[in-house]
Amino acid sequence: EKGRYDHFMRKEISEQPTSLAQTIEGRIVEESGGEGSARRVCLDEFPPGAFADVSEIQFVACGTSYHAALYGQAMLARRGIGSQTFRAGEYAMLPAPVDEDTLVIGVTQSGETADTLESLRRASEGGAQTLALTNVVGSTAARECDDAMFIRAGPEIGVAATKTFSSQVASLALLAERLCEDRTGESSPYQGELLSGLSALPGLVECVLDDGRANDVIDRYRGMDSYFFIGRGIAHPVALEGALKFKEITYEHAEGFAAGGLKHGPLALVTPRTPVFAVFTGRYTDKMLSNVEEVQARGAPVIGIVSEDNSRVIETVDDAITIPDCHPDIAGLLANVQLQLVAYHVADYLDRPIDKPRNLAKSVTVE
Ligand code: F6R
Repeated sequence: EKGRYDHFMRKEISEQPTSLAQTIEGRIVEESGGEGSARRVCLDEFPPGAFADVSEIQFVACGTSYHAALYGQAMLARRGIGSQTFRAGEYAMLPAPVDEDTLVIGVTQSGETADTLESLRRASEGGAQTLALTNVVGSTAARECDDAMFIRAGPEIGVAATKTFSSQVASLALLAERLCEDRTGESSPYQGELLSGLSALPGLVECVLDDGRANDVIDRYRGMDSYFFIGRGIAHPVALEGALKFKEITYEHAEGFAAGGLKHGPLALVTPRTPVFAVFTGRYTDKMLSNVEEVQARGAPVIGIVSEDNSRVIETVDDAITIPDCHPDIAGLLANVQLQLVAYHVADYLDRPIDKPRNLAKSVTVE
């Protein structure tokens, strides 16, 4: 039931404080020790040391789940753990080499996406350990993989994935900590900070939902030629996801780019009629600002998605959609909620069939 909302997508965007609370429930435990209390990751689905022998990690996923996997890869990289992320459609064609010390993580909301299932099967045939990160208990991915971790977002009806993306990323943040612990025997130096950030996340998302900036700002950028989304590091998959959501429900042309890649080609497309959404996560501010200046010099208006404390960015961009100040790994999720709202409001204004965009299906069961 949509309740008081016009669309399931809008309802599911609003459900994120609850769905995120479900995702982390019982998975962050408070322990009191010698120096006061500390938070710890607790993933009961995996026995102690389950990942101790993993020497290589590969992610396989499609669409929005692929962006969540890229976010997971960035969080692992921060912990000194290398991994690779593959579009499942490509992996199924040319599977990367695996052995029994390879962990292949299929990120799939439905657990039924044909390309992702095929990739996981190929990895399994090659001897890899497989893990399904999914929303659906009893799904094919959950049944066929060696292990499963459920994101517990609750049912998602809108074709555009929203709350499942944030729950996938929150789950991957926890899994990244657990992989780090199992492989190195100790928790990462970020664990305390990250877990307090994750615990605060449902409340922070609530603040973003209460702020009407996304709707106010996009009013100024209707009827443009194209909409570009840029970011660096963890903000890169957020930019890609912002563009995917925007194009799939508004039918307007949108592309996401790594901000540093602009000058290697896409800058040729930038004009005063191509607004650029620039995702700032609290890191790489200087480098992002120089990319912002590159597009502003070509006349493109820049909308910054930025922490409310970052006055330097707020003063430079043409419009700012702010998010509460928080841990950089969490900031990307808050920026994503603002971009979900941007896409939703534009699509609603254009009267698009938001919950069932043309040509798309909720679960893609053909390769
Ligand atoms: C976009 C969207 C799709 C899915 C993709 C994978 O909003 O929903 O891109 O993310 O089809 O689906 P799952 O996660 O079910 O494997």
